[in-house]
Amino acid sequence: MSFRLQPAAPARPNRCQLFGPGSNTKLFAKMAASAADVINLDLEDSVSPTDKDVARANVIDAINTVDWNTKTLSVRINSLDTPYWYRDVVDLLEQAGERLDQIMIPKVGCAADVYAVDALITAVEAAKGRTKKVSLEVIIESAAGIAHVEEIAASSPRLQAMSLGAADFAASMGMQTTGIGGTQENYYMQHGENRHYSDPWHWAQTAIVAACRTHGVLPVDGPFGDFSDDEGYRAQARRSATLGMVGKWAIHPKQIALANEVFTPSDEAVAEAREILAAMEEAKARGEGATVYKGRLVDIASIKQAEVIVRQAEMIAG
Ligand code: COA
Ligand code: MG
Repeated sequence: MSFRLQPAAPARPNRCQLFGPGSNTKLFAKMAASAADVINLDLEDSVSPTDKDVARANVIDAINTVDWNTKTLSVRINSLDTPYWYRDVVDLLEQAGERLDQIMIPKVGCAADVYAVDALITAVEAAKGRTKKVSLEVIIESAAGIAHVEEIAASSPRLQAMSLGAADFAASMGMQTTGIGGTQENYYMQHGENRHYSDPWHWAQTAIVAACRTHGVLPVDGPFGDFSDDEGYRAQARRSATLGMVGKWAIHPKQIALANEVFTPSDEAVAEAREILAAMEEAKARGEGATVYKGRLVDIASIKQAEVIVRQAEMIAG
């Protein structure tokens, strides 16, 4: 490890973030009763411009009246290039009670975008005497966002999570696709007769994971649009989990169980991690820094890898 230690990310489950439009009040109770760890009430792109004011009022009412249990409750505000976002922040912090946990800023392009929202939040919190500090999450979904991903991850002590938003990201990058995440037909390697599909989201995901891990922020995979394709969602989520992401969005309730399944370490994975830790304890007792587990090398780095899985499982169970 560098002299500068890697900070821990917030120790709360973030396996699934369930979205619902702030204009669709009949979804709120269903969202609250779901198995998602995080709820995102949306004021942004699932709400039409004519519904912005009513959606904002709906969301404030829902924060104050619905029983959200132990969920992390987050509201996605409008982006900083719109005339709506300041009113979103001011009304939420003046009128929603302390049950509000988090504000999600979409289309963040630089650290100053987060700074602006942080400054406004800080002023309203102080003016209203709010005791709980609202946390922030951001979406990386533009060329600027991915180009400035590290300064964004470092932008505010309020920042807890960062998601990749595949659809807006693809549009901003000029990618030739209308799909929201997942396999892209034209992104493949040809080897003789065989076509091997590659993952066009991979590099952006790893950039996000590295920036997040450097600054103690939770990296999250965003939406998968085709909610009829369970196997496609599972495959995307498994790749994200393998790369170090902690969860994925659900834009339909049927995706919640899929996310929870993939981002909860399996009993087998946890058992194996515990066996590796035990094998390394025995090695240490013998004065050895490396040993053999099931025919393969395990050493001191294996302890850290195993601890990632055990800690994640314990945090989710707790
Ligand atoms: N949260 C909770 N419940 C939801 C839900 C959500 N996001 N979306 C749908 N449901 C409920 C429906 O109300 C319905 O409930 P019922 O069985 O009690 O009638 C059930 O799940 C099945 O819904 P279905 O008919 O398959 O979907 P739909 O046509 O009503 O809605 C969408 C489809 C995509 C419009 C809707 O899921 C949606 O609005 N998703 C969120 C979009 C969003 O927030 N986007 C922004 C982030 S990218
Ligand atoms: Mg978007």
